[in-house]
Amino acid sequence: MNIIGKAVNRVDGREIVTGRAKFTHDLTFPGMLVGKILRSPRAAAEIVSLDLAPALALPGVKAALKLKEGKVRYAGEQIAAVAAVDEATAEKALGLIKIEYKSMPFVVDWEKARASDAPAVREGKPNVEPLNDYARGDVEKGFAEADVVVERTYRTGFEIHHPTETHGSIALWEGEHLVVYDSTQNVHGVRDGLARALKHPAANVTVIKTYMGGGFGSKLGLNEYTVVAANLAKQAGRPVKIVLTRRENAMCVGYRPSTSQTYKVGAKKDGTLTALQMTNVASGGLGEGDDVTEPVADIYRCANCKTDEQTVFTNTCASRATRAPGHTQGDFGLEGVMDELAAALDMDPLELRRKNYSTKNRGDTGVPYSSKALDQCYDLGAKAIGWERRNKKPGGGAANGPWRRGLGMATSIWAGAGVPGTLADIVLYPDTSVEVVCGTQDIGTGTKTHMAVVAAECLGMAPADITVKEGSSDYPWAPLSGGSLTTPSVAPAVRDAGLKAAARLREVAAVRLKVGADDIVLAGRRFSSKSDPSKSAAYADVFRDLRRETVFHGERGGLPEGFAYNTFGAHFAEVEVNVETGQIRVLKYAAAHDSGQIVNRLTAESQVVGGVTQGLSAGIFEERVLDDATGNPVNANLRDYKIATALDIPEITTVFADRIDPRINNIGAKGLGEPPRIPSSAAIANAVFNAIGVHVGEIPMTPQRVLEALKRKEAAS
Ligand code: MOS
Repeated sequence: MNIIGKAVNRVDGREIVTGRAKFTHDLTFPGMLVGKILRSPRAAAEIVSLDLAPALALPGVKAALKLKEGKVRYAGEQIAAVAAVDEATAEKALGLIKIEYKSMPFVVDWEKARASDAPAVREGKPNVEPLNDYARGDVEKGFAEADVVVERTYRTGFEIHHPTETHGSIALWEGEHLVVYDSTQNVHGVRDGLARALKHPAANVTVIKTYMGGGFGSKLGLNEYTVVAANLAKQAGRPVKIVLTRRENAMCVGYRPSTSQTYKVGAKKDGTLTALQMTNVASGGLGEGDDVTEPVADIYRCANCKTDEQTVFTNTCASRATRAPGHTQGDFGLEGVMDELAAALDMDPLELRRKNYSTKNRGDTGVPYSSKALDQCYDLGAKAIGWERRNKKPGGGAANGPWRRGLGMATSIWAGAGVPGTLADIVLYPDTSVEVVCGTQDIGTGTKTHMAVVAAECLGMAPADITVKEGSSDYPWAPLSGGSLTTPSVAPAVRDAGLKAAARLREVAAVRLKVGADDIVLAGRRFSSKSDPSKSAAYADVFRDLRRETVFHGERGGLPEGFAYNTFGAHFAEVEVNVETGQIRVLKYAAAHDSGQIVNRLTAESQVVGGVTQGLSAGIFEERVLDDATGNPVNANLRDYKIATALDIPEITTVFADRIDPRINNIGAKGLGEPPRIPSSAAIANAVFNAIGVHVGEIPMTPQRVLEALKRKEAAS
């Protein structure tokens, strides 16, 4: 490979950093109206009456819609919408809508929602339901065999996706054809969802994503406001744009559900796990919470394992998939208890993991993993951070005034595989220009660049020579950009098309050079004969011989059976904790991953840096807080909802194992979108444990929670 695996600058980097790139927010169309949505200020209410007439009477208002009848179930639920000539008019019109509510009892605190006398969140259904369970072996037998048993609870809070670009859609009707510009991770899914919602043929709907500022799971499918934009546009006969505010982004489009995970773990003196039991209470508002069984069941070999999970419903908008749903929360608990077990055994936490990690899923009872590179990740990460510098006993380090230093680590696995049937076309033009077309979505991660890299590799060209077209539902089908499956779906499809295109070019060059096609090599924009180096032809001549543009269809083949994919990771953090103020500073970080063949080292490293940053932020700062009395958020902005800034981010070293299993796909690439987010909060929490000798047990680890943990430690000693 000449280009694949190297660090290649983003093909669109210049456009993005100079501000020329157009995001959905930036687009305007002639006659375009601004759409705004009236949202319920109440967490539960009955709509007694709703009158749009005063809003419609306001000059400049061109359309209005009722969106809700009957019962409202969360603060922020959509009630009505208007479209007006400008934002001020639309805002004013929302204020003119006449609405009368009858308040109903509600509950937004998941712990209170579990009480038998709590208000019913969903009529006729219980607030608590079973979520998931799993068992292998016999945990009671395992605990009986254990020399040491540790029992602990770990909690993770509500984290909001908060992509840089808030959600937004623009809808335009061109006769019977609906065109929607949407900031989405899923152009085909939004198209199909719109077709269903509007009872309009999918063939008459086109969804386009231009440049995009992230999604993290909150833009995986059709959103309500997109349907609203389409309906307002139809009524007004003009394009309508709806962009959500930061507050709406915090209230109406999901968040990471919370967990409260209680672990009981048993082990022999030498660290061999004998029993692993976990119960979890998850909360995802009006939707189900995430179950966390997968990491618990899969990472370690423990023969006796049992999980039991419940979900609690509250009067809050439904949660949504958030970068590595379930794994991120489960890893925090599982890897936390592994560290507390290591301390109880007086063992190196890394050695405890080496002793127990599994090479098959379901704790060595399932299918084998595609590579066994977890140990390599442990080696690479430990070396990069200087693991030998950790405190041999948690809290046992030298004091530097009020600051205590510590090192911690955590493991991750993620089973993203890549979707078969993903399509990509490569078009060769007689003037030597080359186009890659695929209906995937570059959501800010660099997908466009990796498509150019793969095509360039196949065709002996440079990535800058390739024009990449993505982000339209009119392009060949690709799955949503989520689940860490974009690269392992799209890169193999592009490579398939690229290899076909290269084969055809060789055939055409062979005729011109009068040699066999097998004798031709492509490099430096020339076709040369291997056996007779005097024979060569310029790209310009061979492409001209094609006579017309020629399309090559590529497809990502089927998934081989008999092994589980899995991207592996081991993260290591060094922190400093102030025992007087509870402040945490992350000083240094090392992230090691086995993601198979890296396609573009630059954007792969960016994914890792982003995942670590997000985990640091969620681990120390981020938490949505709802007001019990009103059910409304108290920090629905970026001032009160804290997100890590550049000043909080340490030096991050990224290392890749580069284990390549050719069975995976025609490139050997595995996913890397979610994996670097999974162990990052856990590794930092474990480093805090190593620094202060008590595990905070809950994220975000706010100063208050750190100080409370220190008090618990004092009380116990
Ligand atoms: Mo992701 S949570 O699959 O965007």
